[in-house]
Amino acid sequence: MNEALKTVVRAFQAEVQRAWALFRQYKGSDVTDLLQGHSGHFGGWFRMRSRVDPCGYLDADGKHRYWFHGIGLCVQLAPKLHIDWDVGHGGRMDGFDDWRLRKFLAERPEFQRILPLDSLGEVLHAAVRDGSIVSPWSAQGDSLSYIADDLGTRPYAAEDLPALVAVFTASVHELAARFYTPQQLDAWAPQPPKLAPWHDRLRSLQAIVATHGKDLTGFISYTPNGHIELLYTSPAHARRGVASLLYSCVERRLASLGAIYISTAASLMARPFFERFGFAVTGEDTVLLRDHAFRRYTMRKKAPRAA
Ligand SMILES: CC(C)(COP(=O)(O)OP(=O)(O)OC[C@H]1O[C@@H](n2cnc3c(N)ncnc32)[C@H](O)[C@@H]1OP(=O)(O)O)[C@@H](O)C(=O)NCCC(=O)NCCS
Repeated sequence: MNEALKTVVRAFQAEVQRAWALFRQYKGSDVTDLLQGHSGHFGGWFRMRSRVDPCGYLDADGKHRYWFHGIGLCVQLAPKLHIDWDVGHGGRMDGFDDWRLRKFLAERPEFQRILPLDSLGEVLHAAVRDGSIVSPWSAQGDSLSYIADDLGTRPYAAEDLPALVAVFTASVHELAARFYTPQQLDAWAPQPPKLAPWHDRLRSLQAIVATHGKDLTGFISYTPNGHIELLYTSPAHARRGVASLLYSCVERRLASLGAIYISTAASLMARPFFERFGFAVTGEDTVLLRDHAFRRYTMRKKAPRAA
């Protein structure tokens, strides 16, 4: 990633943290909803907003004005420094966009020495093209950009195998349980799982894992010609955007490899996920797995053009 851009984004994020700490210091317990609001995406934010004045001051001297806007907040940190940010997917506050960085640079001219205002647009475009900044949750209404390295994804490594298989087994038995019989679930994900077949299978695929701290929260695998083979999220992290993050990494990668279409064979459960990302059902088939029949949807979408 362009070092000047990274420095400016990090400085912006640090100021957002400072402004948010100031806001919490003065608004105290009113913000607990937001801190707990991770599963509801923006729900916690709106609950908090409904209990706090839409604008006001964060101190008795009137030095720190604040006001809400949409899904964001603006806090005056100094007479000529206002930090304006939006709350992103799952309550994240490390997202940014061209407009916010431009405003930040305009009010902090010392950073323009390393990143002149008139080159910001071009530098951001280059970072999108090389994948160092990404917008994984745009399908869920969060159009902000994030530094890719901050999002907890990385290529699968052999040491991940036990954790990956544990996520697979739990995901099938818990998340997919509404859609399949117990016998089908056992055929799909036998317990205890055997690691050796997984090791062999993953060798022929490209795989990416998502992590949260030390936990592996999900994984995806694909072939370079554009087929998504596996996509599983750990039950403890379901509906928090893990699969969206993984899928958007792969979509970008496939676009850069020149794939024309992206295809998958989706489970009954995964169909709405893929529809959310613009896939259409092209057929329905039944596969046999350990003597049990599974209905699945073949789905496809046109790959986006590489940025
Ligand atoms: C399908 C699966 C991978 C989705 O993972 P996830 O991390 O929970 O998905 P995300 O949080 O990124 O969801 C993104 C969007 O997809 C859609 N979606 C995901 N799961 C959905 C569900 N169960 N029902 C309806 N829509 C769903 C929603 O539009 C969701 O956005 P929202 O939460 O803002 O409404 C996960 O449920 C899973 O592992 N299922 C069991 C195994 C399986 O069937 N794998 C697929 C094999 S092909």
